Amino acid sequence: MSSIRPDTTRRSVPDEDFAVIETSDGSSTAFSTRFSQAYSSRHGARSQAETVFVRGTATDQHPSPRVLEVGFGLGHNFRATLGLRRPDAPLEYLAFELFPVPSEILGAITDNQDPLWKDTVQAWSAFGTESARAVSLHVSSHGRTLTVRHEDVSQTALPVNWASAIYLDGFSPRVNPELWTPEFCVQLALALASGGRLATYSAAGHVRRALVAAGLEVEKRSGLTGKREFLVARKP
Ligand SMILES: C[S@@+](CC[C@H](N)C(=O)[O-])C[C@H]1O[C@@H](n2cnc3c(N)ncnc32)[C@H](O)[C@@H]1O
Repeated sequence: MSSIRPDTTRRSVPDEDFAVIETSDGSSTAFSTRFSQAYSSRHGARSQAETVFVRGTATDQHPSPRVLEVGFGLGHNFRATLGLRRPDAPLEYLAFELFPVPSEILGAITDNQDPLWKDTVQAWSAFGTESARAVSLHVSSHGRTLTVRHEDVSQTALPVNWASAIYLDGFSPRVNPELWTPEFCVQLALALASGGRLATYSAAGHVRRALVAAGLEVEKRSGLTGKREFLVARKP
């Protein structure tokens, strides 16, 4: 089941080129010319999604998680979430995306067979194209729902005390600074339910300090290829 709300407010954005890149674990990502950065780690897009975001927030173990994602991008984290959970296990997934990629790019980077993902790609053609911008996309199947809101997540009201998991997955703080400010981290901390976890691939000191200042208990973890560390922050 899917629905699209027609856009009345969005201006079109300039055309962008997307080069598809194969990463070290065999999964693909793309390069964004708008941000001059790849959407996922070149060391492994799928393994980053699984290790940092899904397992980092324990969403694979949660009986009925509510995931809030900052930057839906190519949907790697969403597919990894589906892939590490039973197909009949409930899931509420709310993502924000300011610059939806064209649906051909979503189709090109994956052949995932989960029916919910197939519905997403199909619905995306009315969501992710310049001529048919939509405000939100909603797909659902057997107790699993995905909502993607086409808006600037740093400027919107987030649900309060709602998320069991937050995937903080903007482009890097250097090129996408509004998603890493202390003020935005406070909004994210408010969106987490008690005991919920936020994960991010960045282990930068200023990100860690912003999460601590927002009242979260932050730990550095390892386990990614390329010997990189990442952060998991828990709301007490
Ligand atoms: C690193 S990519 C996300 C990759 C994605 N999570 C995945 O699993 O494929 C960052 C995403 O954040 C989006 N983005 C950047 N600034 C944003 C903003 N202010 N509000 C919402 N989305 C934003 C970008 O367009 C991009 O799709």
